[in-house]
Amino acid sequence: MNNSEPKRYLVTAALPYANGPVHIGHLAGCYLPADIYVRYLKAQGKEVLFICGSDEHGVPITIKAKKEGITPQQVVDKYDGIMKNAFKDFGIDFSYYGRTSSKTHHDTAQEFFRTLYDKGVFKEEITKQYYDEEAKQFLADRYITGTCPRCGNPNAYGDQCEKCGTTLSPTDLINPKSALSGATPVLKETKNWFLPMGDIQQSDEFQEYIKRFEGWKSNIKGQCSSWLTEGLQPRAMTRDLDWGVPVPIDGADGKVLYVWFDAPIGYISATKEYLQLAASNWQLANTGDRPEASGQKPAAFEDWWQNDETALIHFIGKDNIVFHAIIFPMMLMTHGKFILPTNVPANEFLNLEGDKISTSRNWAVWLHEYLVDFPNRQDELRYVLTSIAPETKDSEFTWKDYQTRVNSELVSIFGNFVNRVLVLSNKFYEGKIPAITSALTDERLLTCRQTCLDSIAQSLHAMREDLDAVKLRDAQAEFINVARAGNKYLADTEPWKLIKTDAESVKQIMFDALQICAKLAIAAEPFLPHTATKLKAMLAANDLHWSSLFNENILKENRQLGTAEILYKQVEDEEILKQLTRLENIKIANIQQPEASSLNEVKADITYEDFEKLDLRVGKVLEAEKVPKADKLLKLIVDLGFEKRTILSGIAEYYQPEELVGKLVTVVANLAPRKIRGIESQGMLLMAGNDFGKLYSVGPEKDIEVGSVVK
Ligand code: MF3
Ligand code: ZN
Repeated sequence: MNNSEPKRYLVTAALPYANGPVHIGHLAGCYLPADIYVRYLKAQGKEVLFICGSDEHGVPITIKAKKEGITPQQVVDKYDGIMKNAFKDFGIDFSYYGRTSSKTHHDTAQEFFRTLYDKGVFKEEITKQYYDEEAKQFLADRYITGTCPRCGNPNAYGDQCEKCGTTLSPTDLINPKSALSGATPVLKETKNWFLPMGDIQQSDEFQEYIKRFEGWKSNIKGQCSSWLTEGLQPRAMTRDLDWGVPVPIDGADGKVLYVWFDAPIGYISATKEYLQLAASNWQLANTGDRPEASGQKPAAFEDWWQNDETALIHFIGKDNIVFHAIIFPMMLMTHGKFILPTNVPANEFLNLEGDKISTSRNWAVWLHEYLVDFPNRQDELRYVLTSIAPETKDSEFTWKDYQTRVNSELVSIFGNFVNRVLVLSNKFYEGKIPAITSALTDERLLTCRQTCLDSIAQSLHAMREDLDAVKLRDAQAEFINVARAGNKYLADTEPWKLIKTDAESVKQIMFDALQICAKLAIAAEPFLPHTATKLKAMLAANDLHWSSLFNENILKENRQLGTAEILYKQVEDEEILKQLTRLENIKIANIQQPEASSLNEVKADITYEDFEKLDLRVGKVLEAEKVPKADKLLKLIVDLGFEKRTILSGIAEYYQPEELVGKLVTVVANLAPRKIRGIESQGMLLMAGNDFGKLYSVGPEKDIEVGSVVK
């Protein structure tokens, strides 16, 4: 890539695993920033392709299938559509959303593998890999768990430790366990094809490529340089599994391509599918009888993927960094025909109300559920997620903060400004842009006006610079500053009062305010696309174009405006309470049913010292009652002998309160207290439960005094 302006932009967003619906973490981490950036490029008239799709292979899919008791194909067929629709609902405007189960993708991935194979890139090796004799299956990637050799996390996966971020191989794990059966796996020989990453790292081409990291975000630079300093290890690009793209060479029966080999090739195959569609549409539009419909002929595949004038930009979350910044570029490089990424803007993670977002624990705000409770309020969520985007470090979504940001920024600043301007224009000028008949002369008004216009120009310049640098959080803050300056102009000049004494000056003020609305409508497009459309309609100016952002007279005098509408509704306390209650109920459900460990699956070993940390006591239930508005929850008073405790327990479905009174139970007496529904729970009861909805309290077999130690 030379330093001149790229001719076109190929922007990708990580292909999400088709194993669950989309939540706010997905949106904030990858899809929303990619969309904002793409909309910004398009608004400037740049040639852009925005590619995404479902990642339908890999262990996350087969594990989900096992959990739901359906086939992997059924899993991906179910979620592909759900995900695609959720993105669409939130205005994520992909040029194309593909699937890695498509024929084009299988062909493309196989052809890619063959090319590398024929060039002798892979090292073919017979190694010992973990095998589950019960399940009769090799245990790759997430099929195996164990203790991370680097940080001691007991729940690390065979491909990665989510705690410290290290990339792992199954054989690195301490105390490996099969995720399928819980069995301790045995080692068995098998042949696989490895990408010799250590050798490629030494090549001139790779050394030249990594110079690009200089201009990238520091989280990427940091992660990559630590891997590179440690030295890269060869990594198998094939797996002994039956779900995936079959390895296209002889002697590889029963083997598929490693999901991280095939998935990024999904960007390439989705581009192909898109171009086929685009070409036939273009053909249709340009056949003899309708020459007027022409439009620009889409660029060819080679122009997108094999031309140095194209900028290739991968938007991803931080757990995908090594694959996009190192492994995929190595694949592209050794293939020989492809361009390498120009930038890889990776975000950190978004947390929810103090906890890591987790699909399996249902700890998430799901996009489809949000839309049920907040219909047509997509832009509010887009706005909040961009304001708190985890661009440089992990960040936190809370409903209270959502409410504050929507109410005090979107409603009170942006929405309020636009509404005031339109209402006043209707009142003073019957919904027309006023014609200015004499220039402002009043010193004070002139100063107010100049201050406002200067501040807006400054904010818009800053916004543009931030967008170029993919600092979207700052860019959106500058956007709001434009509305803020507009609001201040009105507050300082009070046209609603001034109209009685100086109607001439008011014309100038209102004319300016309407131009500011037009600027807001233009600048809103990348961040708040639904709002931009609404606002343009209100201004009866659907043709507003990015290029006029800095013009002074965007809307001409005497032009008729459209009908005014409220842009944003106030978020009410009850709406927030409902969301918090929902999350609290999930927390309660998770209290008695900690993260699903199936019945025949034993958790990683703990030491005796770990066990000794628990303080378990016999207690007697003195009182029990239902907690209002929490179906699952009972509030108990439990006597521990030395003190009485209030304990909330998620067992209302299994016990009537009166059944429990007088019962001896086992209490985790040193569990850190936590507040649920405003009540502090000071411990936890031990329960025996199975996967079929049975739950019984665990107490001493014979009468023993309360406070006794359980050991
Ligand atoms: N499915 C992966 C994930 O959710 C991302 C794949 S990105 C691609 O983490 F490049 F491989 F497509
Ligand atoms: Zn670790």
